[in-house]
Amino acid sequence: MGKNRKISSITKPISNTIDATKRGGFSSSMGFILAATGSAVGLGNIWKFPYVAGQSGGGVFFIFYLVFTLLIGVPILIAEMTLGRKTRQNPVGAYRKLDKRFTFAGGIGVACAFVVLSFYSVIGGWVFNYLITYGKNLLNTIAIAEPVQFYNEFISSSLAPVTGHLVFMLLTCLIVLGGVSAGIEKTSKILLPALFVLIIAVVVRSVTLPDAWKGLSYLFIPDWSSITSTTKLLEIVLSAMGQVFFTLSIGAGTMITYGSYLTKETNIVKAACMIPLLDTLVAVLAGMAILPAVFSFGLNPGEGPGLLFVTLPTVFNQMPFGSIFGFIFFLLVLVAAVTSSVSLLEVVVSFGIDTLKLKRKTSSVLCALAIALLGVITALSFGAMSSFRPLGLSMFDLINQLADKLLMPLGGIFICVFSGWVLGVDDIILEINRGGVKPFTHKKLLSFSLRYIAPVCILMILVSSLFGLS
Ligand code: PHE
Repeated sequence: MGKNRKISSITKPISNTIDATKRGGFSSSMGFILAATGSAVGLGNIWKFPYVAGQSGGGVFFIFYLVFTLLIGVPILIAEMTLGRKTRQNPVGAYRKLDKRFTFAGGIGVACAFVVLSFYSVIGGWVFNYLITYGKNLLNTIAIAEPVQFYNEFISSSLAPVTGHLVFMLLTCLIVLGGVSAGIEKTSKILLPALFVLIIAVVVRSVTLPDAWKGLSYLFIPDWSSITSTTKLLEIVLSAMGQVFFTLSIGAGTMITYGSYLTKETNIVKAACMIPLLDTLVAVLAGMAILPAVFSFGLNPGEGPGLLFVTLPTVFNQMPFGSIFGFIFFLLVLVAAVTSSVSLLEVVVSFGIDTLKLKRKTSSVLCALAIALLGVITALSFGAMSSFRPLGLSMFDLINQLADKLLMPLGGIFICVFSGWVLGVDDIILEINRGGVKPFTHKKLLSFSLRYIAPVCILMILVSSLFGLS
């Protein structure tokens, strides 16, 4: 397929200099790596990773997670970034520019970012509320006396979750309004290093608690006996794969969009390795911050989503200076969440700019408002709107599952099929090699992964979610 098209795209370099200056872009490779890592590092690492690991057998889950990061994560990151840089467009424009028949695949990416952000910012709003609660009680030994009751009352109320969500969206919008280099890149350069400092402070506290080793061995030493049946194994495999997608921000058009702001000197392959490395480092640090503390106080690591909002406050209650650590902890979660939410908003905003020809200001405000509106329904889904249950699910679960189990895997499968079969790995490599970087030598591996391994793995996620296996 497409020999002619391939030749035409080789001989006809996409002229993007004028476009690029108008659209803005990252000022350096380092700036890009920090922003893209900021996108990857988020609630997925600090909220999801420890609880999913906790529910899925700790070390066993971690091994599968590492394997899928290498097998699927890195190749898709490479494909998304090259597609973005090659076309200098948002996901819709990128696919359209290369092959009109695939425009809809870009649409899935934009829709996915829209949907993910609408619930992501709800959780961001919860984090914001917890931060304020700890901030108000910094000097008190106990900030949240009854964590379970506090959490239940909080999520079933209306005002606080909605306000939190709106504040979070406002913060995200303000950064995106600033543009790619002055807004997104600049804040990532400050926030990401700050995040590392904060998380290390909490890790030091956590691993020096009595019996902390129990949490560490749970996280790092695989207990193969936890695989009690094939269904359990499948469950672990699928959650590891889902986690790789979510945590690396793939399938939602983010890396296509960020890639479209890349300079041609940036080494895409190096970036596609650095981002998962840093992202996994933060996930491991988050696990080391949370699990030892949970084990130390004899709590249950398999608590699920409540691990962050219920179990951890219980831990902080029992810790000397617990309120201060609680404050630092929720601050770091907020920081991580904001650098991810800006990348999600940027996908939708760039669609408004490139495709709908809006100004950045107009696009940012309109997109943020639309997403905030959908998010309000989600924010109320445990409270005032709890009886609104489309398809028998709470709005929160519906949106969460729509993104996790359908849109992100679909986005992932299209990027693989498109880059592996339609555009062809040769074109991808041509783009990688631009800008005088060391020529790429793993063509077979990249091709095999994009054409076979990744699509088959993603199909497994899709089939299993359709048949309700996970
Ligand atoms: N990777 C982010 C996290 O781990 C979430 C995200 C998903 C961001 C998809 C962008 C796109 O929290």
